[in-house]
Amino acid sequence: MADKILEFVHTSTGKQIAAALGLPVPPMLKRAKAGYAEKALANSNALVGASAFGPVATAVVKALNAMGAAIKVSADLAGLDGVKQAAANAKVDVSISQADNGVPENVYVLDVTAAANVADLRLLYDFFNPRLRKVPSNSRIVVIGRPRGDSKDALAETAQSSLPGFIRSLAKESGKNGTTANLIQVKTGAENGIEGALRFFLSPHSAFVTGQVLPVVGAPKGVKITEFSEKPLTGKLAVVTGAARGIGAAIAEVLAREGATVIGVDRPADESTLGATMSSIGGIACPLDITDADAGNKLAAVAAGAVANKGGKIDIIVHNAGITRDKMMRNMAAHLWDMVLDVNLGAIVRCNDQLLAGDAFGANARIVCISSIGGIAGNAGQTNYAATKSAVIGYVDAMAKQLEGKGISINAIAPGFIETQMTAAIPVVTREVARRLSSLSQGGLPVDIAEAVTFMASPLAAGVNGATLRVCGQNLVGA
Ligand SMILES: NC(=O)c1ccc[n+]([C@@H]2O[C@H](COP(=O)([O-])OP(=O)(O)OC[C@H]3O[C@@H](n4cnc5c(N)ncnc54)[C@H](O)[C@@H]3O)[C@@H](O)[C@H]2O)c1
Repeated sequence: MADKILEFVHTSTGKQIAAALGLPVPPMLKRAKAGYAEKALANSNALVGASAFGPVATAVVKALNAMGAAIKVSADLAGLDGVKQAAANAKVDVSISQADNGVPENVYVLDVTAAANVADLRLLYDFFNPRLRKVPSNSRIVVIGRPRGDSKDALAETAQSSLPGFIRSLAKESGKNGTTANLIQVKTGAENGIEGALRFFLSPHSAFVTGQVLPVVGAPKGVKITEFSEKPLTGKLAVVTGAARGIGAAIAEVLAREGATVIGVDRPADESTLGATMSSIGGIACPLDITDADAGNKLAAVAAGAVANKGGKIDIIVHNAGITRDKMMRNMAAHLWDMVLDVNLGAIVRCNDQLLAGDAFGANARIVCISSIGGIAGNAGQTNYAATKSAVIGYVDAMAKQLEGKGISINAIAPGFIETQMTAAIPVVTREVARRLSSLSQGGLPVDIAEAVTFMASPLAAGVNGATLRVCGQNLVGA
């Protein structure tokens, strides 16, 4: 469903009316128009800072250089030394920021992994304060820190713990013009996973992701973090449930755009819509109710038949199919509780168990589950739905530990308000409130979820495991 207010305020008449009435104008987000490109930042000026020279500053300079960004450092010395040394070692040119000459940067990356006490946090102020008045629309800010438990020093842990609060506030301050701000928490030793995460967060593929914290913990056993290549899913076989329409159809399209062969699953009653979606991307339609007690085994058989020449193993599965049956708990019939629990949770667990038992996953397989911010914040009338979506977050965390030794990773995406048939059914006032109460003042599109799922399903996220990433424009409803 289209956001008519967003469209109107970006027409010339709409702009005049909004200005005359002093109405806030939601920014027009710049989304990716094509797949991941090697030199994705070829036209970008990236201001880079680091609290010290070290493996993270080195990885950041290497990644930005590989993406083709012009690397700038601050003339006022904020975070200068670590970057200069990393750049000199890598023989990468850096130049002084042009912001003071009226050419502001549109990419900001600050490595504060070495911040180990309260005084070290001053770098956050020194780096960002002089810049933020001139940030162009749709700019990208990424701060890099360490996750909780990375250091044995209580003061260092305290300093690092400031970062989630800092980034959430910076995202709220910067979102008015479509700028996003996110935090990567990289575990010591997992620095080679930074490039993939930066390629996502610094690009238009993450237009609706802001105020979030992504842990980079390292690849599962036996999995190598590979150099970037365009169409990173070439040769991969991906299964997407609930693929006939909405978010699932968008996920199938973006996975196919990046090179995957997609098996789309949906209820037999939706076979014709599913067929149309799959034929538009050269995918394979698989009409199947995911609550079928044997759904995992049936999927394994379809995969084996689909690409028998490569063993028919599943490289990616996206558990997207989901339903709502909203009722206040006190009025909820037992069958509505059972139905939502089974579609949104029971089916995922059964399906994965059968695929694992049947050895149906390929090497380095990636599982992505769809949660919801409703599972984080809770909504009146959604006890059944929120219980399942909250359980998905715990499930990926627990399963990541179990599957790590098998080389399989599992993560979740938690969408916020996304313009689909599901949200079109929300009463108009509630819908308008849910849309606007976010740092980006609008709902997301199915493609925003599809981009985040594709990131998690790709080698770009090889260092990410057991994580749940919210794609919600920093919606206050899920705060
Ligand atoms: N739209 C949002 O704002 C939003 C927000 C948070 C989370 N989500 C989650 O995103 C996912 C997709 O949501 P959507 O908005 O695209 O919903 P949707 O209702 O438009 O699409 C869901 C798809 O799943 C299919 N499906 C349902 N039950 C199935 C079953 N038993 N077997 C096979 N297929 C089945 C449906 O036929 C449909 O094609 C869901 O898990 C939903 O909970 C959506």
